[in-house]
Amino acid sequence: MPIAGIYGPDDFGNPVHGRSAPAARSRITSAQRADALPMPSLQWSPEVERATAHLYERVKNVISPVEWPFMAPYVKAINELKQTRGAVILAHNYQTPEIFHCVADIGGDSLQLAVEATKVKSDIIVQCGVHFMAETSKILNPDKTVLIPDSRAGCSLAASITGADVRLLRERFPGVPVVAYVNTSADVKAEVDICCTSSNAVQVVESLQAPTVIFLPDQYLAKYVASQTSVKIIAWKGACEVHERFTGDELRAYREADPTVQIIAHPECPPDVLAEADFTGSTAHMINWVRNKHPRRVVMITECSMADNVQAELPDVEMVRPCNLCPHMKRITLSKILDSLVYLHEEVTVDPMIAAKARRSVERMINLRN
Ligand code: 13P
Ligand code: SF4
Repeated sequence: MPIAGIYGPDDFGNPVHGRSAPAARSRITSAQRADALPMPSLQWSPEVERATAHLYERVKNVISPVEWPFMAPYVKAINELKQTRGAVILAHNYQTPEIFHCVADIGGDSLQLAVEATKVKSDIIVQCGVHFMAETSKILNPDKTVLIPDSRAGCSLAASITGADVRLLRERFPGVPVVAYVNTSADVKAEVDICCTSSNAVQVVESLQAPTVIFLPDQYLAKYVASQTSVKIIAWKGACEVHERFTGDELRAYREADPTVQIIAHPECPPDVLAEADFTGSTAHMINWVRNKHPRRVVMITECSMADNVQAELPDVEMVRPCNLCPHMKRITLSKILDSLVYLHEEVTVDPMIAAKARRSVERMINLRN
């Protein structure tokens, strides 16, 4: 059914939030420099080539032999420093292949990363993804050190709403439960009843057994959920700046060019895009769909590094890559990951009171799986 209403900051007499400017990246402090490990050599050599040959095998379809000598010294150094520091690297499916396939210990979608974060034994987590993902890891592991290689890696959805906005929504709709997509700040997670990801949004909404649910902040994911359930959905006006750029016309053009092509899309896309897709699902569901169906040719309507990561694994599937990059995900690079491990930089912190409240919402979602 169509969503029952859609709200934004302007509906509460507030100006539209001007939160798109990223916060400045924090500097490496003199204390961090004093505790730093020595910066490893970053020279390409026969030894580096030998030590990374098995990793190059994983990405040789998507990274050329000319590029690899620039990446391999970082890959070797990061993998060695991970051992020295006793750190684990979690990487989202949108990270580039040299990160996703060559230095990450665990890769996945937002739900998988949140679940894996609860099982981590290491004292240090390096989150290769955007800030809300690192915050989620910190919320679930308050006693661990959580690092993000660049704290400016934001998200247009997380930037679209604050905890104060949620309180105003609750005043407007007393008694209506609130579901927050994990693409939100800790401050927002602390104000809601439960979190969800794109993997489990419908299941989470239905688990509340309420006739109406407030679903925030992604208006398009809200519309997708509304199309899959009889629960009435009140939405927020947020959108993903990457997925909202796709259009139904673009998908029709792919199909006209090749009527046998398979098109799969992320539910953060607008409804006219999803209407043209053969399958809709989270990043992990999209990857599994390609693994299971093994199409001859597929268009992945999502951030484009994911197609590279799938291509590395499945070289015989032809990927059509409509290239919409997430500028926030792309702030994470090998050299910044290396700095994270050398200097233990940039540490993610969450106010303990907010973290305790936010943890309830995230754990309630995770426990639904069991
Ligand atoms: P997934 O939960 O599907 O990985 O999506 C996260 C995200 O940010 C998509 O843009
Ligand atoms: Fe946020 Fe969109 Fe980037 Fe995902 S792709 S992190 S939703 S801006």
